[in-house]
Amino acid sequence: MRAVDIIEKKRNGNKLTEDEIKFMVNGFTKGDTVQDYQMSAFNMAVYFQGMDDEEATWMTKAMLNSGDILDLSKIHGVKVDKHSTGGVGDKTSLVVAPLVASLGIKFAKMSGRGLGHTGGTLDKLESIPGYTIGIKEEDFINQVNRIGIALIGQTADLAPADKKLYALRDVTATVESIPLIASSIMSKKLASGADVISLDVKVGSGAFMKNLDQATKLAELMVSIGKMCGKKMSAELTNMDEPLGLAVGNSLEVIEAIDTLNGHGPKDFTELCMEVSAELILDSGLAKSHEEAYKLALRQIENKEALHKFVELVDAQGGDSSYILNPDKFPKAKYIVPVTSTKDGYVTRIDALAIGHASMYLGGGRAKMDDKIDHAVGIVLNKKVGDYVEKGEVLAYIHANKEDVSLETKCVFDAYAIGDTKIQPKLILKVVK
Ligand code: URA
Repeated sequence: MRAVDIIEKKRNGNKLTEDEIKFMVNGFTKGDTVQDYQMSAFNMAVYFQGMDDEEATWMTKAMLNSGDILDLSKIHGVKVDKHSTGGVGDKTSLVVAPLVASLGIKFAKMSGRGLGHTGGTLDKLESIPGYTIGIKEEDFINQVNRIGIALIGQTADLAPADKKLYALRDVTATVESIPLIASSIMSKKLASGADVISLDVKVGSGAFMKNLDQATKLAELMVSIGKMCGKKMSAELTNMDEPLGLAVGNSLEVIEAIDTLNGHGPKDFTELCMEVSAELILDSGLAKSHEEAYKLALRQIENKEALHKFVELVDAQGGDSSYILNPDKFPKAKYIVPVTSTKDGYVTRIDALAIGHASMYLGGGRAKMDDKIDHAVGIVLNKKVGDYVEKGEVLAYIHANKEDVSLETKCVFDAYAIGDTKIQPKLILKVVK
């Protein structure tokens, strides 16, 4: 086999075989039979010609088999996982994981750290004093068998081909290819070993997928790949034309997750947590219908079992769970600066990416891998899309540990679009199964 023939075949719009795709992925990962320039040309051919579901599944499997695959077979019962394509203010795992675990469903999640406007799930959890993410694989499995939940940092080398491929795509204008995104995400998800997977595909200006059409194609392909690999799959397509919930920033988001576990979280965030939990409950076989699963999810909030499971998780991973029971204990930022409106009207849009950037400039996210995160800083929205605001009223509060927040203030102010029409925001646009 030769890389050049495979590139030509895809360039001409023909379907590849599993062996040809394996040849490309393996040869590129090892760096012997496929050179970077050949993989770049291959990616560009895929970008223009696409791949069908079967080819994308072979691509996923080749990347999945390039590294470790977590063996969760020693965990008893159904194992579930969730993934979001990346949203500002997205702290869904902090609610969904303890909620489903409180029903006996096993939530064993190993996450990598990433760069981002706000920290990832691990950074958020580390804002709880003492919480440790560095747990050995054996202890991770034992913890899930004991209490049904573990949220830890990645120890295994999952899908290394994706890491190398993504770096190449990033500099060759081939990130925005639906089969390449789907195989990238699914290779990592499948390597994590769960039986049931829920995907949250963000749609909107702040997301990879700018419109519902594209997002539907991506969700359908990922669901199809997962099913071909024997998993139970669901995908929610959710609106990213404003941040999720009110809080953006690490401990601020943990506090909002705790509020939600106590039954008084923001409406949109609560709705998404209930929806994702209901899908996982349904696909785990604990309910016969979505409605029944949704009721079970609500019950675990009302009876506080989801909150207690979160306390158990924090205790098990060495964290101080008194912070969960009394969130006032979280250290506060030194300055809380209001950003106010200069006119009357309805909030029509809040640029999620701009809010994320403001949080990163405050120190809440990483621009470089070795950046240190300030857990206390971030943005708390006071007005969401659809709210009426009067001139002089507060749009959002900046939580900062520095005095000069002029850059962040401009970012937050510019993120708000205010107009004459009241918009009824819709968070969950579609469910793909
Ligand atoms: N997220 C991923 O993990 N991979 C992509 O290709 C795009 C988003």
